[in-house]
Amino acid sequence: MRRLAIILLLALTLAACAEAAPTPRPTEVVPTIAPEPTFDPAGDVRHGAVLFTTWRCDNCHGGLAEGRIGPPLAQTRLSPVDFTEAIRETRPPKPAFSESELSEADVRDLYAWVVSLDAGVQAAAAPVLGEGEILGMQLYTESGCDRCHGAFAQGGSAAALVGYPEDAAAFLLAMSSSAADVPEHDLEVLDASLMRRLHGWLQAGADPNSGC
Ligand code: HEC
Ligand code: HEC
Repeated sequence: MRRLAIILLLALTLAACAEAAPTPRPTEVVPTIAPEPTFDPAGDVRHGAVLFTTWRCDNCHGGLAEGRIGPPLAQTRLSPVDFTEAIRETRPPKPAFSESELSEADVRDLYAWVVSLDAGVQAAAAPVLGEGEILGMQLYTESGCDRCHGAFAQGGSAAALVGYPEDAAAFLLAMSSSAADVPEHDLEVLDASLMRRLHGWLQAGADPNSGC
């Protein structure tokens, strides 16, 4: 019994010692930007570059974040917190990117990538729309579909809508029949003719450059 008590005491003392003396990390880099709560701006630039094209940021902000439909992001003056907020929110035609699409770590990497870029590159040309067309992305995000069906209609908390297999009438019926549960499905909010155009855009592949 006494022997056990001594062993226990020894184990506790050892644990306390281990806590008191953390191993030094000599290569740790101190970030040059003043960190804000919950966001450490030091990120993986290469991974940020990959995410920037995977999640089609380049489509709207240009390949070097020089600006296109969206404002330039190269050397953004936004704080990490404001940058994160802009990514999470819908700002038509910009979709909201949820945490299941882009994690906090992903956002940090994207930030690291855009601040590393040259701000002197000229903005890329915006997509060309046909007569009377609206950017499909504009209709999709203004109606709030991105919040549940994914930033690019690839599916999120609700089903994927890209390449929607049914015709426009079935699409409208699927929405109106569930409008009691999902207010965004109410065809009073965005009229049926615009919804038909949105359906055509979704069925054709939900290309962020295309109008409808
Ligand atoms: C469909 C086009 C589109 C896509 C895709 C898109 N954006 Fe944007 N983004 C915009 C537009 C347009 C704005 C300006 C919206 C506004 O201010 O009303 C914007 C604004 C922003 C802002 C705020 C900029 C500022 O200076 O206020 C950030 C940050 C941003 N986008 C990051 C991203 C990132 C990161 C991605 C990819 C994960 C992305 N965007 C994808 C179009 C897009
Ligand atoms: C608040 C979340 C939410 C929003 C916002 C939302 N939906 Fe839905 N949607 C759902 C849910 C939940 C279902 C039924 C379950 C499922 O398909 O995952 C659904 C189903 C649908 C369906 C039928 C899918 C199928 O498999 O046949 C269509 C079409 C649809 N939504 C279109 C839209 C469009 C277009 C918008 C934007 C105007 C929109 N939804 C906005 C949650 C949402």
